[in-house]
Amino acid sequence: MTDPLVWEERLQRAAHPVVYPAIRSLRRRPAVRVPGLGVVVSDAATARAVLLDTEHFSKVGPGAPSDLWTPVLGPAVLLNMEGAEHASLRRALSGLFTPRAVRELTAPVAGAALHDLSARLLAGRRVDLVAEVSELAGAVICRMTGLPPTDAAVRGAFRAAQEIVGLVRLHRRRLTPAQVRRARQVLGDLGRPARTAYRAGDEATVPGRMRALGLSEREALGAVGAFVLTGTETIQSFVPRLVAITHDAGHLGSLLGTPAGALERTRVVEEALRVTVPSPAMLRSVRASATVAGVPVRAGDRVVIATVSCCRAGGRFDPSAPADPAIRHLWFGAGPHFCLGMPLAMAQVDAVLDALAPVASAGRTLRVVDRAAARGVLIPSYRRLGVAA
Ligand code: HEM
Repeated sequence: MTDPLVWEERLQRAAHPVVYPAIRSLRRRPAVRVPGLGVVVSDAATARAVLLDTEHFSKVGPGAPSDLWTPVLGPAVLLNMEGAEHASLRRALSGLFTPRAVRELTAPVAGAALHDLSARLLAGRRVDLVAEVSELAGAVICRMTGLPPTDAAVRGAFRAAQEIVGLVRLHRRRLTPAQVRRARQVLGDLGRPARTAYRAGDEATVPGRMRALGLSEREALGAVGAFVLTGTETIQSFVPRLVAITHDAGHLGSLLGTPAGALERTRVVEEALRVTVPSPAMLRSVRASATVAGVPVRAGDRVVIATVSCCRAGGRFDPSAPADPAIRHLWFGAGPHFCLGMPLAMAQVDAVLDALAPVASAGRTLRVVDRAAARGVLIPSYRRLGVAA
């Protein structure tokens, strides 16, 4: 057994060699002002209070996600909206994330992307789990945009999402004009099939379904862009890390032997989410003077919620320990912007675990045989995670 956090630390440092150690060095104070960065929050209760207080803290304004994404996606794509308009768009989109809708979206995609995964492993082959999960995530984008999931389309869609997310840096508040042009071009390529699918109104496609749910074309295309941005790298980062961390802690066999929906599986997955925190920070712009854990803030200030510090304060990876209610689900946010795609994320995690389960039921052990960290990425990830049975 390896200490499961050793590789996690490597992934974090490979992604953010300067910012990660700097943010972690602040973790003993609930909130601290860092010139040039903002007020950094490292405590779960303070983070939750900020996320729930929409009177003082917003995703729209200087230093908030709107600064990054409005120039690329337009002003109304959920993650750069607030108030009644935001709530009404979320309500309209909720039909896409019911258990049934998520199953219908994931099952064919997972079937195609992962169908022979365990057969290859049982035949003695080594498999790179990062490549497998990228294929799954790319295939989900194809479903979202209505693109037929040919191999080239799946790879292209995944690369496009990766390229756009990769433009973001925590220490820069905006994309440069050249980055905005590039991001628009890449998203435009994904938007074209989505527009065609919307206009055709075929409910077998996500854009067609959005039309049936009453969304305008602009809202539907904006939502597709938001889903691609938020729901691709997070999954591609998390699933290999889940397998690696449970492997290192000696829990992988029992995880693969537990069916989807079982309490034990949910607990292990949630504990892995808590320590990996695939979306490691959340940004808010201050709307009106307030205090954040005693630190005074005023309109225009930026709050950086170091979700990774808030969640890691709950201790080492230990699925047998009771979940700490103060931290629970903070890795998916809190309040009105709580991750809309959580059911889809969990369905994709289940799809990969289910595809690997036959290895355990055949009495074989899945082992991590080689791995490498991804460098210079926004979301800490493995570049390669070789597994064999
Ligand atoms: C393990 C995977 C995932 C993690 C850890 C995660 C985490 C988060 C977090 C922390 C937020 C809140 C951000 C904030 O308040 O500033 C968020 C929002 C969001 N997530 Fe996820 N996410 C995941 C997967 C997905 C997937 C697969 C989708 C697919 C559609 C998705 C769609 C969204 C959307 C649309 C929002 C914005 C919601 C809003 O602003 O109302 N996420 N996610």
